[in-house]
Amino acid sequence: MMPERFVAAFAGDDVRTVAEARRWARRTLTASGLAEDTVCDALTCVSELATNAARHTRSGDQGGTYQVLLQVHSDHAHVEVVDQGAAHAPDVRLGGGESGRGLWICAQLGALSLVCTGGGRRIWVDLPRSVGAVVSSPSAHITDRSAD
Ligand SMILES: Nc1ncnc2c1ncn2[C@@H]1O[C@H](COP(=O)(O)OP(=O)(O)OP(=O)(O)O)[C@@H](O)[C@H]1O
Ligand SMILES: [Mg+2]
Repeated sequence: MMPERFVAAFAGDDVRTVAEARRWARRTLTASGLAEDTVCDALTCVSELATNAARHTRSGDQGGTYQVLLQVHSDHAHVEVVDQGAAHAPDVRLGGGESGRGLWICAQLGALSLVCTGGGRRIWVDLPRSVGAVVSSPSAHITDRSAD
């Protein structure tokens, strides 16, 4: 049986909603029985992906929204953000600058994937669940073939 899927929408034109998304995610994941260390990794991903939706996509335009989806499986926790699209594609590579680290950090924590949808993009991280688990080969599975 598939675990329950939790979804919430947040206003993208106010980055203060990222803190709101984190609070919702903490409550939801803790109530789902996820261990604290994985909850912390999940909140890092919620922060980075939600901030990106607000800063880099049409979700950040006036009246724009982004969605956060959470699902706790037996062996991993799924953290996903759905945005309203951008003219450019996400860049997961780590550059030398102070910014451009968010997606790279997410890809160190779990398996990062992204895909274009009709008018936007879904980006998710599958975080290993077992306590103390080490991601031996962090990977980014890029299936994003077309910028919208
Ligand atoms: N959801 C998205 N849709 C389209 N482009 C995105 C999206 N998320 C990120 N990007 C692009 O990928 C780049 C890298 O994102 P990343 O989160 O790693 O760094 P950043 O947001 O620029 O800086 P920070 O280190 O503060 O997160 C961004 O600069 C942006 O151009
Ligand atoms: Mg970012």
